[in-house]
Amino acid sequence: MRATVLLLAALALVPPTACWGAAGHAVVGLVAQTLLPPGAARLVGELLSGSTLGDVAAWADTVKRKGPLAYTFDYHFADAHDDPPRDCNFDDARDCPTGACLVGAIANYTRQAGCTGPRLLPRAQRAQALKFIVHFLGDIAQPLHLFLRGRGGNDQKVVFDGMPMSLHAVWDTGMQRDVRAAGRPEKRIRSDFGGSKDSYAAHLVAQIRAAAWGDASAWISPFGPDDTNARGNSLAAIEWAVEANAIGCWAAWAPYDADPAQDFGAAYYRDAVRVVDHQIARAGVRLADWISRIAAACRPVPHGEL
Ligand SMILES: *[C@@H]1O[C@H](CO)[C@@H](O)[C@H](O)[C@H]1NC(C)=O
Repeated sequence: MRATVLLLAALALVPPTACWGAAGHAVVGLVAQTLLPPGAARLVGELLSGSTLGDVAAWADTVKRKGPLAYTFDYHFADAHDDPPRDCNFDDARDCPTGACLVGAIANYTRQAGCTGPRLLPRAQRAQALKFIVHFLGDIAQPLHLFLRGRGGNDQKVVFDGMPMSLHAVWDTGMQRDVRAAGRPEKRIRSDFGGSKDSYAAHLVAQIRAAAWGDASAWISPFGPDDTNARGNSLAAIEWAVEANAIGCWAAWAPYDADPAQDFGAAYYRDAVRVVDHQIARAGVRLADWISRIAAACRPVPHGEL
């Protein structure tokens, strides 16, 4: 009993998650894995020793709070110092001046995973960099990762299907999969896909292939993995940050301000879940393309050299 109370108290102290929940990240990875061309799939298989992008997608969240990689915490977001929903904009020079944020980290780990630097890094470091890329290309599609307001909605306490959580958590986990035991109704995956991340990912891939959101190749940035600005920030990632910030303005903040006391599992959910689908699909397509462009610059790794 006592132990249970302590455990619950400890759980309550865990800071709010700062990314799609594990399920959202895994679905981004699963979508991308399905779309990888053969050369890119080979690189992923080699670096991840047979694990898939879905398997490793949530890893970065497990190392960001303590231990030797805790310095990566700030790399999961790029906070716009704007005034949503009245005035939304992501300004790279203002919002990520030192490169120590999502758009800088994407450039950094892309360089480490790839083969265009002066020398190839050790395999373990390239593998770790790839795991960061998989995660960060998911985070940059989560609209609330692009706002300083309320620390990305972590300070907005709301109710979702009768359960208290932050606005940030509504977007991270509230909408995707049900894990009620852990207190987070990840509703999209539970109510529409029988609790299966794979089915949700397969649905999104089918939607992408059917051009449900138009031609998905339009989601690909003209900027490549090596294109950065003077701050070292990724030009493609900056485009994605600008886009997600604009989406968060009308999809996350405006309907929040219209009625902060509503139950977010009802009308808010119905509108926002369409945005969640779209953003996860976008992230998966972009991730598959990003990795294939990285792979194109790498020669195949001969056996025994890894
Ligand atoms: C870049 O990677 C290095 C080595 O892993 C790390 O020390 C540094 O903090 C990273 N910086 C960013 C902005 O990702």
